[in-house]
Amino acid sequence: MSNYTIVTLKEVDSTNAYALEFIDSFDDKTVITAHKQTKGRGRYNRRWLSDETSNLYMTIVLKPQNLQNYPFPNLTQYLSVAVCKVFENAFDITPSIKWPNDILVDGYKISGILAESSVKNNKIEGIALGLGVNVNLKQETIDLIDQKATSMYVLKNKNFDVDDVLKRICDEFFENYDEFIQKGFEYIQNDYIKRCGFLGKTITIREENKQYLAQAIDSEGLLLVKDNSGKESKIITGDVLC
Ligand code: BTN
Repeated sequence: MSNYTIVTLKEVDSTNAYALEFIDSFDDKTVITAHKQTKGRGRYNRRWLSDETSNLYMTIVLKPQNLQNYPFPNLTQYLSVAVCKVFENAFDITPSIKWPNDILVDGYKISGILAESSVKNNKIEGIALGLGVNVNLKQETIDLIDQKATSMYVLKNKNFDVDDVLKRICDEFFENYDEFIQKGFEYIQNDYIKRCGFLGKTITIREENKQYLAQAIDSEGLLLVKDNSGKESKIITGDVLC
């Protein structure tokens, strides 16, 4: 089991922004969490609703020693598997993964991941791996979100201890992190694929007005699809819209 350090802030614009701004002062495996974010950010410049103090907002700071074989593109997939395992084993919640790293329960988003990096002189100085989990969000707040969403509270009709959720996710993440960075996607391939709820279904890729059949996830974690004419392709970036 790896060691990690947790830094807790009362309020911050965004734990990812904070991590990147002060990246020099943080060691590898520092976890920054805040009770509240005033400018929580999501993928594709979206906002991440963060006014509630009873939710989980966290950023894992990673400073890889050896960048050469570091599985950077699969890091968010590794975190998504760790979060799924915590939901399943500790909270009796059955999630699925929407490629590449959204976590859903019955089609409703419960958790999102945003990885950003700080680059200096063409070299990655550090990674801010951000995670938001809808822990105690109530339905009236969820109704303000512009996509289908849910929370642990809504699913189980009770409040959860946010610090306990945080600690379980960090323990799960760091337990196998060193092995994951040695072995890459192959190490999580089975765990990832078995949770991909969209495989075999018709999907749309964000920013492409086209439907595909989602066929498989390859050995690098990329999404293999087939269009209506039977042409196969690999999706490298984007978002699956079911
Ligand atoms: C997504 O769009 O699904 C990604 C959402 C990521 C939100 C988290 S909350 C903690 C961290 N700080 C941020 O500003 N964003 C991430």
